Amino acid sequence: MLMKNTSWGGRFNQGPEETVAAYTESESFDRALYLHDIRGSQAHARMLARQGIIAAGEAETLVQGLEKVKEEIESGNFVWQASLEDVHMNIESRLTALVGNVGKKLHTGRSRNDQVCLSFRLFVSDHLRQWQTLTVRLVNAFLQRAVEHQGAILPGCTHLQPAQPISLAHHLLAYAWMLKRDVERMEDCEKRVRISPLGAAALAGTTYPLDPQSVARDLGMNGVFSNSMDAVADRDFLAETLFCASCTMMHLSRFCEEIILWANPAFGFVLLPDGYATGSSIMPQKKNPDVAELMRGKVGRVYGDLITLLTTLKGLPLAYNRDLQEDKEPFLDTDATLSASLQVMEGMVSALTFNTERMRAACKSGFLNATELADYLVGKGVPFREAHHITGNAVAMAEQQNKPLEELTLAEFHSLHPDIDEDVYAVLDYEAAVQRRETQGGTGPVSVRNQISALHDWITGSMGGNMRMENLL
Ligand code: ARG
Repeated sequence: MLMKNTSWGGRFNQGPEETVAAYTESESFDRALYLHDIRGSQAHARMLARQGIIAAGEAETLVQGLEKVKEEIESGNFVWQASLEDVHMNIESRLTALVGNVGKKLHTGRSRNDQVCLSFRLFVSDHLRQWQTLTVRLVNAFLQRAVEHQGAILPGCTHLQPAQPISLAHHLLAYAWMLKRDVERMEDCEKRVRISPLGAAALAGTTYPLDPQSVARDLGMNGVFSNSMDAVADRDFLAETLFCASCTMMHLSRFCEEIILWANPAFGFVLLPDGYATGSSIMPQKKNPDVAELMRGKVGRVYGDLITLLTTLKGLPLAYNRDLQEDKEPFLDTDATLSASLQVMEGMVSALTFNTERMRAACKSGFLNATELADYLVGKGVPFREAHHITGNAVAMAEQQNKPLEELTLAEFHSLHPDIDEDVYAVLDYEAAVQRRETQGGTGPVSVRNQISALHDWITGSMGGNMRMENLL
């Protein structure tokens, strides 16, 4: 049996069982929120004074006292007590020990329910900003590699079967665009995260003449809640955030899958840098893509965090329920996983060596230029369906002789269709096939250059980014 809890123990004869205290405490993990709790409390104290609810001097004492608590935490001198349940009670209790009775005024007009939610929203939105910075850095890494490899071509696949030749730059830029959308999604999500719930109190609002708007402004938030029950009960801002992380992890995982395939000698398209590969304890020749595999594997836990939260929320009646304390760990886990993955991927993308000769050579198998022959016939007036059929015959003929289309002789081509001339060979050239695809967003060199400059502009902030370049330069 523990001591009675001083913050709510008034009506209790005895404290919680030790097993219960250990079961219900959250300070062991929510102490990560200490800074945001302190900021929120300082803003609350200043507002209480502005509204004449406490004296200006008292607010100043609270603000300074909280500053002192912050220093203790950051210097490692703070003594965390599980018996005080969570980060919020630990901080308030220490504040009162430091500044005396006035510390007990901090909680005026506030409940832990709106306090927890405010601290968490501030914490989550700061981390969302870090994710954006890390993701922009990764877009930049893909962009740099694309700039270097505008001249390289490789087989583009559908169904993982050779389809049409594409430029390596175009392939890499596809990931840059996915990640750019991820950043935009996070930016948009952040608008809804940065809504202050302070003033909702326990669930019904409060009788004190609070000014929630000024607290929100003070904390750099976007606005305030409209319904006090909604404010303390919902965590959709977090579900959205975890979806943003899941989507980004999914994008990283798809590139991991390509690295893993490309590193297999059967492809031989990339050489893993030593720093991003591991060896085998039994097979001396091995160089394994463990980093990419692990990142692909870690997607599972991030999706799991999202599902954990949604499941926690689905059966909760209004308003606050203690189940909601289960919102912190999924976020902390996702944050650690995503942040590390983005940084490791940035390093890996920058360090990969692309074997562009292997890529070029691979274009020769799989009849990647078959569409070119069909389009060539269309140019000669043959209807597309017919051209498709004739090209199929050409492929069968070449396949039988175990050679690529461009090695069929003119006589062989003539046997397929009389209008095929010498100029067909230029059309069947793989580089030429890439160069002809200059339609919107295509793999042609002008389209690729346009993509590069658009992404470059976006990174340097000319498309609305506020924090991008300063973080990259
Ligand atoms: N640490 C708890 C949480 O994160 C705070 C509990 C506050 N409210 C309550 N009525 N017990 O949710």
